[in-house]
Amino acid sequence: MAEPQENQFGIEIRGLSKIFGPRATDMAALVAQGISKAELNERHGHVLGLRDINIDMPAGRIQVIMGLSGSGKSTLIRHINRLIDPTVGEILVGGEDVVKMDAGALRTFRRHKTAMVFQKFALLPHRTVLENTVYGLEVQGVPRARQVDEAMRWIARVGLGGFEKHYPNQLSGGMQQRVGLARALTNDAPILLMDEAFSALDPLIRTDMQTVLLDIQKEIRKTIVFITHDLDEALRLGDRIAILRDGEIVQQGTSQDIVLRPADDYVESFVREVNRGKVIEVDAVMTPLAGDGAPGSPQVPVGTTVDEAIGTLVAGTGDSLTITGTDGVPVGAVTLRQLAAALTSAR
Ligand SMILES: Nc1ncnc2c1ncn2[C@@H]1O[C@H](COP(=O)(O)OP(=O)(O)O)[C@@H](O)[C@H]1O
Ligand SMILES: [Mg+2]
Repeated sequence: MAEPQENQFGIEIRGLSKIFGPRATDMAALVAQGISKAELNERHGHVLGLRDINIDMPAGRIQVIMGLSGSGKSTLIRHINRLIDPTVGEILVGGEDVVKMDAGALRTFRRHKTAMVFQKFALLPHRTVLENTVYGLEVQGVPRARQVDEAMRWIARVGLGGFEKHYPNQLSGGMQQRVGLARALTNDAPILLMDEAFSALDPLIRTDMQTVLLDIQKEIRKTIVFITHDLDEALRLGDRIAILRDGEIVQQGTSQDIVLRPADDYVESFVREVNRGKVIEVDAVMTPLAGDGAPGSPQVPVGTTVDEAIGTLVAGTGDSLTITGTDGVPVGAVTLRQLAAALTSAR
């Protein structure tokens, strides 16, 4: 198989606002001036979907969008393939503004550059797993033999080898969503849009699906936009996370940024329930080091979680660890006390 080309399709969202209602454009100035969502609704009968969203989603990474129900997550993701037109703003995909595409360009863009995975799976009930999976390539007019080759490869990759002749109603929810994922991956589009794709699944199945996605992403390096209202899922999947509230971004950053420095009470309320030891990495709590570290102390690489670090520490006899950089050179040291402090959100 050919090496996958480097993914060039980052997504830059610039000054995006969306107002729902018959005179949306007239309301744009009020929204820019900061009218609240409630006031826009009560006084002007319009719904604020999104206000002044700015996000850079790097190519080949997983961008999570998180927020409570009604915060604007679906509205945002649907702008990326322009299922929704913005009231104001730009959506640059691979440097090209989706908003400026004509109907033909948009059709080509949707077909070849994007694939979607839906919460409700959206499988065709009268088609087998294989026939559901080839669907995108069929629409693209790809020769049948290649459709089947590609589909069979992804069906196997998502763990459904042997089920290709089954119909959706013969499969569990988790298996149906594996089909949804195989179908999206078979399109071989650089961008994968996943709107609450795992939210309908039972917790254990959901964790399995996250693992499948993370494993596959190591190879495929798609630009994935993943929507969830679950912080554990966001922290596990997201290279970067943006948090929406009432149509506005209240914080964006890495999992470390969100858990260690929640921007406000809203974010804090999500973060409170989180298992900090499994999220916070030693880099965030270590003392940076110029020299060689404590002689003889066990070493762990940057990116090690606090949980794992404590495990290493208590398995040995010392009370500090040396943290090594990607090149194996010591970059910091951390004590059991620092690790313990990271576990409590009390400051
Ligand atoms: N077509 C529409 N017309 C009017 N209001 C809408 C429309 N679509 C979404 N909204 C409103 O926009 C806000 C964000 O909705 P949505 O993006 O579906 O949120 P989420 O996906 O985070 O649950 C909500 O207040 C919702 O009622
Ligand atoms: Mg939604």
